Amino acid sequence: MSKFWSPLVNDLVPYVPGEQPKMANLVKLNTNENPFGPSPKVIEAIQAELNDNLRLYPDPEGEALRQTIADYHKVQPEQVFLGNGSDEVLAHIFYALFQHGEPILFPDVTYSFYPVYCGLYNIEGKPVPLTESFEINPEDYRQPNGGVIFPNPNAPTGRYLPLEQVEAVVQANPDRVVVVDEAYVDFGGESAITLVDKYPNLLVSQTLSKARSLAGLRVGLAIGHKDLIEALNRVKNSFNSYPLDRLALAGAKAAYEDEAWFRKCCDGVITERERVTEALEGLGFEVLPSKANFVFARHKEQSGEALAKGLREQGIIVRHFNKPRISDFLRITIGTSEQNDALIKGLQSL
Ligand SMILES: Cc1ncc(COP(=O)(O)O)c(C=O)c1O
Repeated sequence: MSKFWSPLVNDLVPYVPGEQPKMANLVKLNTNENPFGPSPKVIEAIQAELNDNLRLYPDPEGEALRQTIADYHKVQPEQVFLGNGSDEVLAHIFYALFQHGEPILFPDVTYSFYPVYCGLYNIEGKPVPLTESFEINPEDYRQPNGGVIFPNPNAPTGRYLPLEQVEAVVQANPDRVVVVDEAYVDFGGESAITLVDKYPNLLVSQTLSKARSLAGLRVGLAIGHKDLIEALNRVKNSFNSYPLDRLALAGAKAAYEDEAWFRKCCDGVITERERVTEALEGLGFEVLPSKANFVFARHKEQSGEALAKGLREQGIIVRHFNKPRISDFLRITIGTSEQNDALIKGLQSL
């Protein structure tokens, strides 16, 4: 605390990202990065941008990339918003598209950045309890609110809500924006982007950090009705006109142009996820059904904290949340088969 801080900063409770340890040879399964690496075509595209043009500002509208993404998802470019990672996109959504005088609904167990954005903008967040089995019940979102947001698949549970049920939440809130955060949708889910032309109150956010292996490039997006996108552009252009640099714009475009690589990485993660799930169950874990690139699991006897600590002593890092309802769970990112073998062996020894 300092006398120079604004009262708002004094009260901020910032998000704590999963750690990025500096030690070598770690089995790093704590931040849901993709183990397979970006497409070689992405690297080539970025290298081609490493030239004298870097003295020039990038395209503030990211037009070429928006066109590529629009074609990919069969929408119009005016329906696509780009940001510096989906975290930035989400921040603008909270500011631009939620009604600040009323509570914003999101699951009680979910991405922990949502309450942080509420704190940043001084809006009320209202956690809606997941069911006993950690599922979203669409009926619970029929209550007065200033907007709704949930990840699908949810994080950190990995549980997926079928598209008809997503649609039920959207239909139940025709006067409010419903945001579906699809950071993990490519690992077995079905995107709600197919519904955006039907519902002007539906906004879908996605990221290139997970299925497209580009967490380090910081590219996220939102797709919805053009009026929603215009609101986001108003905020963006009141904050930072150039959220995506030249390298990010070029690399992201190339990522969408290499469908084969994308499919191969997703399939690889899915295959390994099923193998890890079976192995964990064999070791006495309850594993929630996951459609993400991680699993959420608790042991029938050992505490989550002790397991996370025991793994860390062996150089294996997973995520443990010391929070109500989930303190006995570990969130384990699906790694390469070698990393997953190390995880399983590590757990066997505990
Ligand atoms: C549910 C969810 N949404 C959004 C993000 C943010 O991703 P990024 O800012 O890398 O696009 C994450 C990252 O872990 C996430 O888990």
